[in-house]
Amino acid sequence: MRNKITIVGAGNVGAGCAQRLSERGYADIVLVDIVEGMPQGKALDILESGPVVGFDSNVIGANGYEETARSDIAVITSGVPRKPGMSRDDLVLTNMKIVKGVTEELVKHSPNCILIVVANPLDAMAQLAYKVSKFPRNRVMGMSGILDTARFRTFLAQELDVSVEDVAAYVLGGHGDTMVPLIRMATVGGVPVSEVLPQETISRIVERTVKGGGEIVSLLKTGSAFYAPAAGVAQMVDSIVLDKKRILSVAAHLEGEYGISGVFVGVPAKLGKNGIEQIIEIKLTPEEDAALKKSADAVRELIKIMKL
Ligand code: LAC
Repeated sequence: MRNKITIVGAGNVGAGCAQRLSERGYADIVLVDIVEGMPQGKALDILESGPVVGFDSNVIGANGYEETARSDIAVITSGVPRKPGMSRDDLVLTNMKIVKGVTEELVKHSPNCILIVVANPLDAMAQLAYKVSKFPRNRVMGMSGILDTARFRTFLAQELDVSVEDVAAYVLGGHGDTMVPLIRMATVGGVPVSEVLPQETISRIVERTVKGGGEIVSLLKTGSAFYAPAAGVAQMVDSIVLDKKRILSVAAHLEGEYGISGVFVGVPAKLGKNGIEQIIEIKLTPEEDAALKKSADAVRELIKIMKL
């Protein structure tokens, strides 16, 4: 029997996730949105690509949650995206209402599922889903670190004129201006990038990475990134469904790791069939440690606004 994955929000990110995940062939997909006909139409369109692409996953759209019952994984993409000039944090009050309601419905119908949050502001929305679901922390996570890391790797690979596959990196911290690209641990073919690129080039790339989401928003004008975010979700789902135990940057609820407690921030974590199976603690330099704590404090500010 195939796994069952619910994706809430049939906008660009949600539909992108549905497309990428259905093509994996390992899960049936339920795409949920409140707009009548829209999730059904997109789901049917994706389903009809099956004979061409070669997958047998069932893909359906729904306006409610009955169809989502007993999902193994639920991805929350619903919420409004930012407009040019807005920060992700500006979305907190609008999206918290949406994410709260969605989480309640998902939990009611799939009490054993793993939740992957994609709505912004990411870490705060993951915190909200964790609080509302009352799930153990291994079953609630946010997708952002893979996206931020992918941007970092893309820009480094472009600069070095090498395959993106040979650039490894980690971006930790919250998904916002305080994120922490770990320059020390970025490597190309196993060699630290600091040995092959001048410091000012690395600083420029870090700056572009941190502002990477805003760069897309200012180009699109009517929304935010969705191709790379959907790819990030699919990588997390792969690791869970296939029990790959990959170590990926994910937003996780910290309970003392990195000296941080009671808040979601991006850290490397091992993802397998049980969700977050281990949080990997990298020994940080004092500067990196301070930057990560500052990032956690920025998430705490949002949690205060949400009165969680
Ligand atoms: C980004 C948004 C989606 O980083 O958070 O592109």
